[in-house]
Amino acid sequence: MREEDYTTIKAKVLKCSFCRLSETRKNAVPGEGDTNAHVMIIGQAPGREEDKYGKMFIGPSGKVLDNLFSDLDLHRQDFYMTNMLKCFLPHSRKPRSDEIDVCSSIYLSKEIELINPEIIISLGYHVTKFFLRDYDLKVPSRDNFSNLFGQLIVANNRKLLPLRHPATVVHQSAKYETLLSNYKKINIVERDCKWFTVCPIKRFYEEGKIPKYWIDRYCKGDWESCRRFQLEEANIYHPDNMLPDGSIVYNL
Ligand code: URA
Repeated sequence: MREEDYTTIKAKVLKCSFCRLSETRKNAVPGEGDTNAHVMIIGQAPGREEDKYGKMFIGPSGKVLDNLFSDLDLHRQDFYMTNMLKCFLPHSRKPRSDEIDVCSSIYLSKEIELINPEIIISLGYHVTKFFLRDYDLKVPSRDNFSNLFGQLIVANNRKLLPLRHPATVVHQSAKYETLLSNYKKINIVERDCKWFTVCPIKRFYEEGKIPKYWIDRYCKGDWESCRRFQLEEANIYHPDNMLPDGSIVYNL
């Protein structure tokens, strides 16, 4: 990470006047946390408290996030956190596409390039939709969208983990327990599968027989959803040529 480039982005965010949001904000809010982190958490935009003090996630959503982190033994300082938009949305309205285009192309894309996280966690509908579009992936209808939360997506040489936004608890459109089970995935994707070193999937990949996708998506990603892992844990026989999604390949 080039520290001077990062400092430049921060300074630019604080003085930014590229869109109409600069006219109504009190403080632009730059990203915070470990710039060497391999997990980057991306919120939508600062809320009222964040706007007042210029700090990330210190309002009601931040309190929910702190409770989730404390319940899961996660620590803010181990992550890099930023927002898709660096300025408060007046009356907490939805972000507009021109605001997303300008802000993300100038700041968010640069932060991702410099920090180069292994895993991007997108919080909520608008941020997740932004990444799906950016990665040329299908955007599900609003009714089906919530199925994506907690599902690891491997695309564009990155791992994207969409999670529900903590504000859904504040606005009571989701229960805290629903969020907690969602956020448990952070602890999963941060570790490799405990069976990885002895798993035939590792060998098949090293022999060039299967693409890296399987390793990224399951062995070093969401191994909890790997069919092989589940059968191994349940002590149920599964053949070597079973892929992590449960499909059988005959030419391995
Ligand atoms: N909501 C967000 O998405 N980001 C913040 O920083 C605060 C609230």
